[in-house]
Amino acid sequence: MPEQSHERYEAIFEEVEAPFAFVDLDAMWANAEAMLVRAAGKPIRVASKSLRCRGVTERVLARDERFQGLLTFTLPETLWLAERGFENLLLAYPTADSGALGELALRSAASPEKAPIVMVDCVEHLEAIESVLGADAAPVRVCIDLDAGWWAMGGRIKVGPKRSPVHTVAQAVELAGEIERRPQVELAALMSYEGQIAGVGDEPPGRRLRGAAIRAMQRRSAAELAERRAAAVAAIRELTELPIVNGGGTGSLELTGAEDAVTEVAAGSGLYAPTLFDTYSRFSLTPAAGFALPIVRKPTAGVATALGGGYLASGSGDASRLPSPWLPAGLELDAEEGAGEVQTPLSGPPARQLRIGDRVYMRHAKAGELCERFDALHLVEGDEIVDVVPTYRGEGQTFL
Ligand SMILES: Cc1ncc(COP(=O)(O)O)c(C=O)c1O
Repeated sequence: MPEQSHERYEAIFEEVEAPFAFVDLDAMWANAEAMLVRAAGKPIRVASKSLRCRGVTERVLARDERFQGLLTFTLPETLWLAERGFENLLLAYPTADSGALGELALRSAASPEKAPIVMVDCVEHLEAIESVLGADAAPVRVCIDLDAGWWAMGGRIKVGPKRSPVHTVAQAVELAGEIERRPQVELAALMSYEGQIAGVGDEPPGRRLRGAAIRAMQRRSAAELAERRAAAVAAIRELTELPIVNGGGTGSLELTGAEDAVTEVAAGSGLYAPTLFDTYSRFSLTPAAGFALPIVRKPTAGVATALGGGYLASGSGDASRLPSPWLPAGLELDAEEGAGEVQTPLSGPPARQLRIGDRVYMRHAKAGELCERFDALHLVEGDEIVDVVPTYRGEGQTFL
C-alpha cells in the first residue's frame, strides 16, 4: 500500500481543481480483500447505496467472483441498473412506487428468473405489487425482511433498526404462507440486517463504558439472531424453497458470515471505509474515499478556512456525522462552525502552514453519500489518476 500522505496526494492531484472527490483504489482493494476474508467464504452482495457510482461498482464486481450481485436501495435505481446490464439485484427496502412496480412487472414477465427481487414485510406490500400486475402476469419475486433487532427485558427494550414488523419465526412463516397462497408473487429470499451490530462501532473514542455496553449488547444480539434466523429459515423451507438468505453489513461480516443459515452477506461501506467505520474492535480498514477542499482564507494565523465542506452524513445528527479533516494530519474542525455550507474553518498545528490555494483532504462519515456532493470520482492507483468516473449524481441521478 503506497503511503497516504498530503504530499503524495497533492502530487497526484496537481492538475485537478478542488473541490473534488476521489477513491484510492489501492486502499479500496486492500479493504475488499479484508472483507472477503472476514466473510468466511460466503459471497458478498454489494450494497449499491454505499458506492453510488457505476464505474466503481463494476470494478468491485469484476475484482473477485465472491462479490456477487447488488443490494440496491430504490426501485427506480434498481431498474436503472438493470437497464445498464447489472444482474442479480435485490432491492433492500420496500417500495410504494406504483410506476416503478409496473416497470418491474414488465421485466419479471420478460425474464422471470433474472428480474430484480423486491423487499416485503407485510400484506400491503404484496397488494401493492399485485395491483400493478395483469391477471396473467408472471410472478414478481419477493424477499421477506426479517427484523434482526435485539429484544431485551421481554420486549420492553428493542435495539436495532426500526424497519420490519416481522420479528418472530411464526410471523416470518405467516408471511411466507401468505406469499405462497398468492400466485402473482414468488418467495425468493429472506433478508435480515442487524444494524445494531453491523452499523455500530464498539470502540467509540473516549467512551470506554459505552464501548463495553455496546460489545455486551452485540454479543447477546448476535447469539439470539443466529438462533432465530436459523429457525426462520428452516421453518420457511418446510413451505417452499428459499435460495437466498442475506444478512449483515460491513461491521458484522465475520459474525453473519459464520452462520450456516446465511447464504450470502451484504456489504458496501467497508470499500470506501468512511470515518464511522473507524471505531470497531473486530477489524480495521484503510481510508479509501476522500474529498479535497481549497483553502481560500486565513482569518488568523492559526486558522485556514476551506471553501465548502459541509457534507454531513445522515443519521442520528450527532458529531460523528460530521466530515473529518484527514490530511495534513492534525487539522481540526471549529467547535462552533463544524463543517459549513460555504466555508469550513480548520485549526490545529498544520493550519499555520496552510496558504491560500493549498488543499486539504477530508473524509465523509458515511460511504455513498459523498457521491451526492460530487459529479465524479477520481480513481487513483499507485501515483496516478487512472480514471475519472461519474457518480450517480454525475449521471443526473439522485435516487435518495
Ligand atoms: C439492508 C442492509 N443490508 C446491509 C447494509 C450494510 O451496508 P454497509 O456495508 O454499506 O454498511 C445496510 C446498510 O445500511 C442495509 O440497510
